[in-house]
Amino acid sequence: MNPYETLLADARGRPFACIVGWPVEHSRSPALHGFWLKQQGIDGTYGRLPVEPRRDALEDLVSFLKRTPHARGCNLTLPHKIDILPLLDQIDPAAARIGAVNTVVKLDDGTLEGRNTDGFGFLAALRDGAPGWSATDGPAVVLGAGGAARAIVATLIDAGVPELRLLNRTRDSVIKLGLAFTPEDSRNVVIERWDDRTDALKGAALLVNTTSLGMKGQPPLDLDLGQLPKAAVVDDIVYVPLETGLLAAARARGNRCVDGLSMLLHQGRPGFEAWFGRTVTVSAEQRRAVAADLGA
Ligand SMILES: NC(=O)c1ccc[n+]([C@@H]2O[C@H](COP(=O)([O-])OP(=O)(O)OC[C@H]3O[C@@H](n4cnc5c(N)ncnc54)[C@H](OP(=O)(O)O)[C@@H]3O)[C@@H](O)[C@H]2O)c1
Repeated sequence: MNPYETLLADARGRPFACIVGWPVEHSRSPALHGFWLKQQGIDGTYGRLPVEPRRDALEDLVSFLKRTPHARGCNLTLPHKIDILPLLDQIDPAAARIGAVNTVVKLDDGTLEGRNTDGFGFLAALRDGAPGWSATDGPAVVLGAGGAARAIVATLIDAGVPELRLLNRTRDSVIKLGLAFTPEDSRNVVIERWDDRTDALKGAALLVNTTSLGMKGQPPLDLDLGQLPKAAVVDDIVYVPLETGLLAAARARGNRCVDGLSMLLHQGRPGFEAWFGRTVTVSAEQRRAVAADLGA
């Protein structure tokens, strides 16, 4: 059986969604959506679909989702989040601004809409993990300028942070990121040098790591937190391991911390609600189930 046949065989005519990537075996999305399907008593499935990074393979995916009656949509992970854009019927404003789609929803008329829920997930996790945090509390520092940073920077600007300090190892990427999301008349986005990251923490109310540093198999994030106010919230979106070196150091000095698993769980909510028509919440029980799936 090819992967499409396997997906259909598992669904057995029931409504389904799936995670699409290349590779896709590592994704934890089936665990988090599977939890909600079971919790809500929905007779549906959420599977994995490996799709090669070629335009014709993505066209096959789009055609499959459209012609299969019970297909409700999919999530997209690397390397498809950008290449899918021209193949969809419509892109919602948030995804268009970020320039990437992580959720595809089949609408009632059978057309496919691309959405991006990473910013929603980031903000919901922050509000959940650091109750009372407000964008207006003070400057936010964002490390990294990759795909995840785009969604987070757009979200923090929309949330109204008074000052956003951006830092990345490769300076060209962070300048592009700053320019992409800064209104022409705005002076509240500041590009700092990567080597000055310790000083950039002075007076900050929020520190977010969106680099892959600290992730299993990657070098640690080398960052002295000495200048960071104790009242600042530290958010690391890396979720393997759950307690990164950054979070451990921040927690030890009394900063409130938000981990990447929380963002991962929250970013799944809008897709699930659109596909299966039920409002869901992130719970400690789901967190335990997905953490166990991660081997954490
Ligand atoms: N929790 C969630 O829901 C969630 C969602 C999305 C992503 N993530 C996690 O976020 C991380 C980034 O994902 P992404 O998709 O944004 O990746 P990406 O587009 O590949 O970006 C990687 C970022 O890490 C930086 N980086 C990598 N190696 C570095 C090093 N040795 N020194 C300094 N900077 C380095 C890169 O800097 P350069 O530009 O200099 O290369 C870039 O800014 C991953 O760990 C991913 O698992 C979590």
